[in-house]
Amino acid sequence: MTTEAISLDQLRTAIEGALARHLTPGPAIEPRLAEAMRYAVLGAGKRIRPLLTLSTALALGAPAAAAMAPACAVELVHAYSLVHDDLPAMDDDDLRRGRPTVHRAFDEATAILAGDALQALAFELLSTAPLPPDIRIDMISRLSAAVGAAGMVGGQSIDITATGKAVGLAQLERMHDAKTGALLCAAVDLGALAAAAGNETREHLVRFGQRIGRAFQVVDDLLDVTVATDVQGKHAGVDARLGKCTFPALLGVDESRAYVARLEADALDALRAAGITSGALHEIAQQVVNRNR
Ligand code: IPE
Ligand code: IPE
Ligand code: MG
Ligand code: MG
Ligand code: MG
Repeated sequence: MTTEAISLDQLRTAIEGALARHLTPGPAIEPRLAEAMRYAVLGAGKRIRPLLTLSTALALGAPAAAAMAPACAVELVHAYSLVHDDLPAMDDDDLRRGRPTVHRAFDEATAILAGDALQALAFELLSTAPLPPDIRIDMISRLSAAVGAAGMVGGQSIDITATGKAVGLAQLERMHDAKTGALLCAAVDLGALAAAAGNETREHLVRFGQRIGRAFQVVDDLLDVTVATDVQGKHAGVDARLGKCTFPALLGVDESRAYVARLEADALDALRAAGITSGALHEIAQQVVNRNR
């Protein structure tokens, strides 16, 4: 796989093959934990984040092989975040990707540990990726910042403390950027790092990642109030039941959709500035905005 004419479906198949290989249980891993890790990752996910990593690298002329380890790392961290997000102490959800959540299919302790182990595996993959050492270190630094206390975990903490309270637009944007946008943005930036992109190109792509990352969570909020459980593969109506702070709760459905359209336009403008005028990243941006799951 070296050309840009690879379809998203082909990339998704390659990602899922690589993830399955990385999750092949070795003799040193406790079988129930290994099974829970595979269950968490290998279900019916859309793979949007690893597709962003691979498509960014390909758009900048790097081979897919250069970006496969960071693509998998990003999806492993994402899968861990979902397992913990669904726990009784967080969103207390029993359905994910069309089947029982990990703590329901296994048990709570196994779900916590599987999430922990997936995060560790993600950073192991980055540290051993077939890339120059300085790029590997930049990737580790970038991804750890995106998912730590100032990124995804911090955003999840804001989400929990803001539940049941009234928040304004600026705080909601900050929460969505942290809990969801930071990882999508890092997914794009890891692809740029894999392609050894220059600073100016990276800055444009980071803007693309920020806009598409925020849009992703606004659309997720919209799906919760507009799309049925069986289509989404996760329960609809959860946010209102839990008293979550969301865009439709703050702005209403129509204004939230208009907000997403503005983010999409800005995201595409950033791609243009990076010299990318068509291809997989455009297709992913459209999927993020127009999806029903
Ligand atoms: C769900 O992410 C969690 C959010 C950050 C909104 P996805 O919608 O990408 O979930 P999968 O990976 O396709 O199941
Ligand atoms: C989750 O947001 C964001 C994460 C960091 C996992 P949500 O709680 O809205 O995600 P879903 O709707 O359960 O997938
Ligand atoms: Mg949540
Ligand atoms: Mg949730
Ligand atoms: Mg949601």
